[in-house]
Amino acid sequence: MQTELSRKLGVEHAVFGFTPFPAVAAAISRAGGFGVLGAVRYTAPDDLKRDLDWLDAHTGGLPYGLDVVMPAKKVEGVTEADVEAMIPEGHRRFVRETLARYGVPELVEGEASGWRITGWMEQVARTQLDVAFDHPIRLLANALGSPPADVVARAHDRDVLVAALAGSARHARKHQEAGIDIVVAQGYEAGGHTGEIATMVLTPEVVEAVAPLPVLAAGGIGSGQQVAAALALGAQGVWLGSVWLTTTEADLHAPALTRKLLAAGSGDTVRSRALTGKPARQLRTEWTDAWDDPAGPGTLPMPLQGLLVAEAVSRIQKYEVDPLLGTPVGQIVGRMTSERSVQAVVDDLTRGFEKAVDRINRIAGRSGQS
Ligand SMILES: Cc1cc2nc3c(=O)[nH]c(=O)nc-3n(C[C@H](O)[C@H](O)[C@H](O)COP(=O)(O)O)c2cc1C
Repeated sequence: MQTELSRKLGVEHAVFGFTPFPAVAAAISRAGGFGVLGAVRYTAPDDLKRDLDWLDAHTGGLPYGLDVVMPAKKVEGVTEADVEAMIPEGHRRFVRETLARYGVPELVEGEASGWRITGWMEQVARTQLDVAFDHPIRLLANALGSPPADVVARAHDRDVLVAALAGSARHARKHQEAGIDIVVAQGYEAGGHTGEIATMVLTPEVVEAVAPLPVLAAGGIGSGQQVAAALALGAQGVWLGSVWLTTTEADLHAPALTRKLLAAGSGDTVRSRALTGKPARQLRTEWTDAWDDPAGPGTLPMPLQGLLVAEAVSRIQKYEVDPLLGTPVGQIVGRMTSERSVQAVVDDLTRGFEKAVDRINRIAGRSGQS
């Protein structure tokens, strides 16, 4: 599974893996793919430094990347406290009442919420970049929107490639104008923030819109056959997020969540604003149902919703409150039916890719040429 881009980055397979877990990112790179660590959950730069140091020690010089959430527009001088103050009391009450209805215990005094999604904030993301550029990252990806021009320049000065996620050809062209190197075309079926266009439709649209810029296809990919399909659509590689959640290296901190993911079907996710205020695909739970219920107060815009629910999500996670327990995950969850190592996932992708190529060769009347 080699393409011009995988050769440029020096990886064996054109498989890019997004993950919030350093152990998974390292294992993806060691398995011949390209591990990308998500930085959004890190609020303290020292924690990110510790984990990037760990990655350096466990990737043996193999390339890896970092994914940040950096808005292109600067919002100067806004603190987390300013944003907290904008959250209406009625919404806070709704959170309290919902948690009480399910008997969700409080966090222990002084226990920090592990799920504060503040990495989106300009100042937090910038301190993350200072840490990241002290490490040998080969790729910097930006989740929501084009990265600011000075960040692109700083990355290029250090020979770091810049990628950005796009849910439409229009967004992809904006990224191209911002001077990035790789577009990740992320379809509707993906876990996390998504647009409304499916990967099958989006990938060739983006490939055509930004040519000759390399495009990675993301969303709904969990088998080698799907990798082959993405490459056939013109992608230079694939970008996978959901499949790593049920790997043995992933640390979801909640065995009940792993069980739910393994049991879920492809129809058990929902694109909901419950987690961050922007539509993000996740497991459908009684928590997402409560937020999406027209009888409720409705969600707040980003970043208010993320701050509003951060502690609640931590409590649900910590106490594994089954009906409310969820995570961002895509429709491919229906194929995630057993816990496997990252290496086993990559081996399976390789085998499935070869099968797909053989099949297409047979159909095209070129048997034995794969
Ligand atoms: C648990 C989880 C968290 C995610 N968080 C981020 C994020 O912080 N930044 C980002 O760029 N993408 C994030 N994504 C999206 C992935 O980068 C990727 O585009 C997506 O998972 C691909 O689709 P798939 O889930 O069908 O593999 C997340 C995905 C999952 C499953």
